[in-house]
Amino acid sequence: MAKDYNSMEDSNRSSNRNIHELSDPSRRIVLKGGLGSALGGLLAPLAGTLAGCATMAGDGSLLGFKSVPLSSADKLTVPEGYIAEVIAAWGEPVGLSGDSPAFKTDASNTAAEQEAQMGMHHDGIHFFAQDGSKTGLLVMNHEYTDDGLLHPDGMKTWTAAKVHKAQAAHGVSVIEVEQKDGKWQMVRPSPWARRITARTPMQVTGPAAGHALLRTAADPSGTRVLGTFNNCASGITPWGTYLTSEENFINYFNGPDQPNAHERRWGLRKGGAGYRWHEHDERFDATRHPNEPNRFGWVVEIDPFNPSSTPVKRTALGRAAHEGATVAVTRDQRAVVYSGEDSRFEYIYKFVSRDRIKPGGFRENAQLLDHGTLYVARFDADGTGRWIALVHGQGPLTPANSFADQGEVLIKTRQASDLLGATKMDRPEWIAVDKDGWAYCTLTNNASRGTSGQPGVDAANPRANNTMGNIIRWKDEGDFDGTRFRWNHFVMAGDPANERAEAKGNANGDAFGCPDGLWVDGRGVLWVQLDMSTSAMGKGDLAKLGNNAMLAADVRTGEVRRFLVGPAGCEITGATATPDGRTMFVNIQHPGETASERTSPDQPRGISNWPDFRPDGRPRSATVVIRKADGGVIGT
Ligand code: FEO
Ligand code: CA
Ligand code: CA
Repeated sequence: MAKDYNSMEDSNRSSNRNIHELSDPSRRIVLKGGLGSALGGLLAPLAGTLAGCATMAGDGSLLGFKSVPLSSADKLTVPEGYIAEVIAAWGEPVGLSGDSPAFKTDASNTAAEQEAQMGMHHDGIHFFAQDGSKTGLLVMNHEYTDDGLLHPDGMKTWTAAKVHKAQAAHGVSVIEVEQKDGKWQMVRPSPWARRITARTPMQVTGPAAGHALLRTAADPSGTRVLGTFNNCASGITPWGTYLTSEENFINYFNGPDQPNAHERRWGLRKGGAGYRWHEHDERFDATRHPNEPNRFGWVVEIDPFNPSSTPVKRTALGRAAHEGATVAVTRDQRAVVYSGEDSRFEYIYKFVSRDRIKPGGFRENAQLLDHGTLYVARFDADGTGRWIALVHGQGPLTPANSFADQGEVLIKTRQASDLLGATKMDRPEWIAVDKDGWAYCTLTNNASRGTSGQPGVDAANPRANNTMGNIIRWKDEGDFDGTRFRWNHFVMAGDPANERAEAKGNANGDAFGCPDGLWVDGRGVLWVQLDMSTSAMGKGDLAKLGNNAMLAADVRTGEVRRFLVGPAGCEITGATATPDGRTMFVNIQHPGETASERTSPDQPRGISNWPDFRPDGRPRSATVVIRKADGGVIGT
């Protein structure tokens, strides 16, 4: 999500001492001597600064393509020798049997039709192979809606039918795809096709299931919730399920004039962020249903191979504005789930399962994510860190501090982390684990860092007015369940010249600004996707900034090349590939986004008409299928 819907997200006013505020600013990462020659002209156009990850510079590079130039054109650019084709754009029928409503270019499809079509604003994505690398399921998130594009007249009128359609355009799609005659296409109809929306029944499990704070008039059990939304990064489990996360869920709720302490800590506010669902669907009015927001902010597990299965909200992983959930496996076969919370000054978490993963699929591991320990990260200034357990009765997590039980600790994960002295981060987005066991997390930006009344810089978040972000990485001691770790910055994004200019308040944006999506492919390449906000780009020189891009990094050498540049106004988010590495799927989100199009549908093609370029059309988020013309492995 690029647009500044998160403007109120700095709700962490906790007084826990930020232990790094006085740390040595010389830890500020700069390009190290000897690395420059290894990177040469490769890094220069990207204008990032890489940390001490270049110990093997000079080895054979994982990257064999020629970096693409910046572009501010309304087109998708891939390297020479690569082919990019669009599938599964917003509004395409997903392939439900007997229900295949075609997309209407004026956005006049009904809510019922939208329920059978691809949702809006594609985000995290994963390819579940069925037949080697020729057939499989693509499962992807639809993060949010731009209602200016979703309805023919945008939000000029506002009706229950429009709310229903917006809810139907959120959530997750499961589609079947196949490669036929050298071309990828959706299989329609498909027995696997499915839409999960903001209205799909879900089960709540884990320590908070049934908790008094999760009970509502419509669900006195506190275990049955309708829907998931604001789903961002993708995750997968070793047992073949998909993890989707509920990020800025609070924006969908209308709050009271004067929220209580719990509501304030979660950013609940009157009117929400303008989705206006509460005007026609009262469960989104938290003044009438104050527990409904507590039923969101969870990681949701979906079994894509059972289209009739009920998605499960896993409360043991904690409640947060989860960007995503990334699974690693310990040597003794326990699941570890890393998760960041994309809000200013929020935290990074990990969950360690109590039990070992059993051979088999979802059925054999149906309770695995319900039992275990949740930890929050503290990054110390000496380059080490600790995972602090969120366990009821330990330390300050007691009834005296309003934690009646473990369920309440998990529902109030933020408040618990405040008391435990966790490190307040610069908007943790995606997390990916490399082949050496390092976990990388994008800290996309935080312009509030160091401003009046807000936390100052620290070792892990060393930039005031951080408009360009960085990628931090850590390695747990011993194994992924270790409670101590080492950390450093993999990259400080952006050109320091721009950083200096921004400190004076006279520039914004950078061609390597705001890393967001992260994915490690089968060869160990770290793919980095950029999400500079529309407002920041609007203040910069677009010719020098270019549109948001996807970069490829060789983490052993620190080499970075620009692989893809998206169309105008988009962000790049979500990447996956077939097992043979010869087909990559990348999601393009919100092409054509401007700072105002949510409420101004009059010029839907104002800055983009990608990918259809129809004179009567409108920009559509879509999946891009990328192959090499010679059939080779992507990135080589
Ligand atoms: Fe939904 Fe943090 O991006
Ligand atoms: Ca983002
Ligand atoms: Ca994101």
